[in-house]
Amino acid sequence: ENTAAPFEHLGGLQGIEKLVTVFYSYVSEDPLLSPLFPKDLTETARKQAQFLSQFFGGPALYTEEHGHPMLRARHMPFPITNQHAAAWIECMKKALNTRSVPMPLQELILSRLTMTAYHMVNTADLQT
Ligand code: HEM
Repeated sequence: ENTAAPFEHLGGLQGIEKLVTVFYSYVSEDPLLSPLFPKDLTETARKQAQFLSQFFGGPALYTEEHGHPMLRARHMPFPITNQHAAAWIECMKKALNTRSVPMPLQELILSRLTMTAYHMVNTADLQT
């Protein structure tokens, strides 16, 4: 129903954990994204599920364990271009489809994540 947060509509923490697992399986297959990430994505996925829980109106699990997200600062060690942001969003779109998240919710989630993804860009585009 309409008053529930996206967190509830995604199936709570369990639903978010499943979405995040599928998302990182796509990230690990992406030639642009995978080189930036550790080979073992277990801890990365655990933190991302904590973050998305609070980002979508659920419990503030990320902040409880790690403090203020400061996401842009935490991404500064990695050279992130517009192309990385687009690839990240594409992986999330595929994950939302794989998890059969219904369309109006998918659009809401993607629009919020797109703003955050482009906010992480800290490096000029790669030459194509
Ligand atoms: C961590 C890349 C966008 C949330 C990371 C890490 C990388 C990365 C390489 C470190 C992984 C590790 O060491 O475990 C990227 C790239 C993005 C992007 C290339 C493209 C724009 C986003 C977005 C969000 C996000 C849109 C949130 C919706 C996080 C979180 C962490 C993280 C919560 C864990 C931070 C911590 O260490 O506590 N990201 N990211 N990232 N990213 Fe991203």
